[in-house]
Amino acid sequence: MTDEKHAMTMKEFDLKVATFLALFANAQPGVVRKVAPKDLSDPKNQAEVDEAKRNLLKLMAIGGMAALGGGGAVVGALQYLQPPMVGLPAYPKVQLLYEDGTPVVTTSYRYNYTDKGQIIFDYPLTNEPNMLLNLEYPAPNGIGPNKTIVAFSAICQHLGCIPPYISYYPPGECPGWNEDKGFIHCTCHGSTYNPYVVATANGGGAAIITGPTVLPIPQVILEEDASHYVYATKLIGPPVKGHFNTLTGGNGVSSSVKTSSPLTPVQSCPT
Ligand code: FES
Repeated sequence: MTDEKHAMTMKEFDLKVATFLALFANAQPGVVRKVAPKDLSDPKNQAEVDEAKRNLLKLMAIGGMAALGGGGAVVGALQYLQPPMVGLPAYPKVQLLYEDGTPVVTTSYRYNYTDKGQIIFDYPLTNEPNMLLNLEYPAPNGIGPNKTIVAFSAICQHLGCIPPYISYYPPGECPGWNEDKGFIHCTCHGSTYNPYVVATANGGGAAIITGPTVLPIPQVILEEDASHYVYATKLIGPPVKGHFNTLTGGNGVSSSVKTSSPLTPVQSCPT
């Protein structure tokens, strides 16, 4: 009985590995992919799965050694055990559209913050929300006539809270904070981020003003074309919270993405 149960478990595990291998075979940028696992009755596919399992065991062994030294590689190895349903081999370049399908145009940006509206779009995966902001001052990597249009991950880097609990606070909303230039704040546990300062560690992103987060929030690098249409091209900074890699762990996006209708954020000034 125990052997039978064990055999079932190994078979299920092989199927997971086979799904993982199929996922990354011939992947195309920006293409939503749903894959079936490779046919394990084919000895060639079974050999590929066995090879992948050997590599996985090596990774876990390395992770175990790192853990003895206080490292976190075991966490990475365990996340590797949960293959993503869909992933992307590289960042796609996708155009941003408003919720009604019309293009976002930098010279006639539709929203401001007088009504505290918050615009969200998914990129590069459909479970990776980002906030599109038109700041009051020129900002690093900003686009548009005043270099004020920027975008950041809307997943807090502390424990992963998403809108409406994390949002942008415009100047004057919380006097004295970030010299009244505006900031990003997560009401879950109080982390704040500075959209005007690129973090020097972790590959960039909005620098931390206050914890408990220990990582900056990733920034979406935007581009505009000659018609002033807006495109998301990649993220800089650490992986989005909860994902081993920003390009894996969820669903893909197509060649364009729509922003949300403005959401009303839950806001209270940090203390
Ligand atoms: Fe944002 Fe904790 S999840 S501060």
